[in-house]
Amino acid sequence: MDVLLVFGTRPEAIKMAPVYRALREGPLRPIVAVTAQHREMLDQVLELFQIPVAYDLNIMREGQSLTQVTGLVLGGLAQVLEEVRPRLVLVHGDTTTTFAASLAAFYQQIPVGHVEAGLRSHDPYNPYPEEMNRRLTGSLAALHFCPTPLARENLCRESVAPDRIYVTGNTVIDALLSIVEEDYQFQDPTLRSLDFAGRRVLVATAHRRENWGGPLRDIMLALKDLADRFPDVEVVFPVHRNPQVREPAQAILGGAPRVHLIPPLPYGEFANLLARCHLVLTDSGGLQEEAPALGKPVLVLREKTERPEGVAAGTVRLAGTRRETVLQEAERLLVDSEEYGRMARAVNPYGDGMAAARIHQALLHYFGLGERPLDFRPGEEG
Ligand code: UD1
Ligand code: UDP
Repeated sequence: MDVLLVFGTRPEAIKMAPVYRALREGPLRPIVAVTAQHREMLDQVLELFQIPVAYDLNIMREGQSLTQVTGLVLGGLAQVLEEVRPRLVLVHGDTTTTFAASLAAFYQQIPVGHVEAGLRSHDPYNPYPEEMNRRLTGSLAALHFCPTPLARENLCRESVAPDRIYVTGNTVIDALLSIVEEDYQFQDPTLRSLDFAGRRVLVATAHRRENWGGPLRDIMLALKDLADRFPDVEVVFPVHRNPQVREPAQAILGGAPRVHLIPPLPYGEFANLLARCHLVLTDSGGLQEEAPALGKPVLVLREKTERPEGVAAGTVRLAGTRRETVLQEAERLLVDSEEYGRMARAVNPYGDGMAAARIHQALLHYFGLGERPLDFRPGEEG
């Protein structure tokens, strides 16, 4: 009863860690293959959650292209699948690892379980290439683990058989709840030196392909403007290792007063920073799920989101990527405490911390070893 978990980037690892832990309880046997589409950022997570890796394709290259990643994953995984012959392959989300791993499994007629299935922006170039990666993976998958009822509706509209869909909540909430601690002590020297009581700490991240170039520069200029205009604001920006992000970040924000450019933080440090910050500005997918659970308002630095639940709940707002608009939206939250208060409420549209247990139960159900789990319903206890 081997189940092969395949992932390759930081967010996939964070979100698959709870699944690995749940499956380890048996009777299924989880085996982990990493593509290492990311290297250092992946290793940080593997180390934190102590995930033993059986196969490591080690494919990352500096400035890699989508085609390179797809080819290396497809080729590398074919051999692993031939050797392991798992009963099922589990993939996560919308990266190129996700899509190529699903295709590799399909070619060997091994069923695929898709974790975090059914998110849709309905625009193939936004986010790019993730929207298409997710749709293609959905077409290849035999089982779909949807984080929310809306994701389930998206799949039903695409004629996916309802009995192959489980609504589980998002496993990122499981990971987050296991990591955030009230009396956490930061290791990172920048975070240790921040005065969280006396200053308003803004957390910023950006890396999306569709933002490379002009939009990313605009976002960075808006962050600089914010730090200039508000003397009690500190911006913490852990910079993604992609050269397309690192280079403009250094050029525009390097040396800017009260803007802290730091390398990617280990998840424990980052999650606890989120829990203590004032406001989040990001184009990340995962942060749109984590920050609402922690009661932190999020300005999403994108034109579209495949995660509308946070927007509907009122804690997430689409701010776009134009310098003026981002600045305006952030200023509004920094000067208007009532508006800030309306957004800074803890809501859990994405999960209750039990997603991995539901996925485990769903797999047992699929293999005829247990009952179908009850669906996750936002707003109710798990
Ligand atoms: C990838 C995913 C994206 C996901 C993001 C999470 C695709 C197409 N993109 O984008 O969906 O949101 O990961 O962060 O699958 N690099 C390092 N060290 C690392 C990681 C990256 O040096 O640990 C650098 C390398 O130069 C690498 C580059 O970043 O070539 C880009 O990595 P890649 O995985 O291709 O794209 P991301 O932008 O990280
Ligand atoms: N994250 C982290 N360290 C950082 C920045 C982010 O551990 O310095 C975590 C964050 O909490 C979230 C995930 O990485 O769980 C998001 O990853 P990313 O933004 O790279 O990808 P996306 O979610 O956009 O696919």
